[in-house]
Amino acid sequence: MDDATLNRVVRQHAQTAQLLGVDFVPAYTGRSRNVSQRPSPPSTTPAEVTINVKPSVIEPPKAACSSSAMIPRGNLAAREQAMSALRAKYEAEAPHQHFITAHTRLVWGEGSLAARLVFVGEAPGEEEDRQGRPFVGRSGQLLEKMILGMGLKREDVYICNVLKTRPPNNATPSTREIELCEPYLREQVAILAPDAIVTLGLPASRALLHTDESMTRMRGRWRTYALAEGHTVPLMPTFHPAYVLRNYTVETRTQVWNDLCQVMERLGLAPRANPAVSTT
Ligand code: URA
Repeated sequence: MDDATLNRVVRQHAQTAQLLGVDFVPAYTGRSRNVSQRPSPPSTTPAEVTINVKPSVIEPPKAACSSSAMIPRGNLAAREQAMSALRAKYEAEAPHQHFITAHTRLVWGEGSLAARLVFVGEAPGEEEDRQGRPFVGRSGQLLEKMILGMGLKREDVYICNVLKTRPPNNATPSTREIELCEPYLREQVAILAPDAIVTLGLPASRALLHTDESMTRMRGRWRTYALAEGHTVPLMPTFHPAYVLRNYTVETRTQVWNDLCQVMERLGLAPRANPAVSTT
């Protein structure tokens, strides 16, 4: 990278970090350091949320076994058809009938079916249930800022949740609820076949990775998600925006930003001009 580009990237990062409320330049961008040079996460960081019941048996992640798993990104018509068919299957099977919900409508997910990046949250909240769209409440506003900070627009990515129905009192999804809904999420992600996945918070990270690790251990480290036979996708767990809003410290925001920097680097996005925080 030449000096002028580097300069622009650094200024872009600084401005974007500022947009997220961080008042100093993050020390780590992931570009030129190796893993051993990264600052280790503070041991005092509180656990993000607790899952009601730990999985009794943690199975290794299975590849999503869908015949539509690897539809080429350019074949939007086939992707649309596969996504509609999957949604119809979900509606017919209604896995949420097996647990208590507080929903008035399904929140399936939205965004570009050609997205290179997929964000996965845990479950719709009140506003999401009202609008039938994921991440449109306070957490959604922060997520949108994060996406914008990455030099992307909301419409460029795909956003969905593990659960498609609002839990009562916005409760954290139970292990059973996750088990019932996760197969549909796997197929949904398989149709999208993105270049990277960002899981937001503990339930989404555990659901896709089939692990009982803590968020503090998981976040900021690339994982491998088995998408289909012989096809894997890098997955970056990071904090849920609701957690960031509850713990609105420079440290938390910088941690999330550093995670997103790694995603940008992986997708080759960092050098792109960011229209929201343009430096020109
Ligand atoms: N939190 C989530 O996990 N998902 C949403 O859609 C909204 C808030």
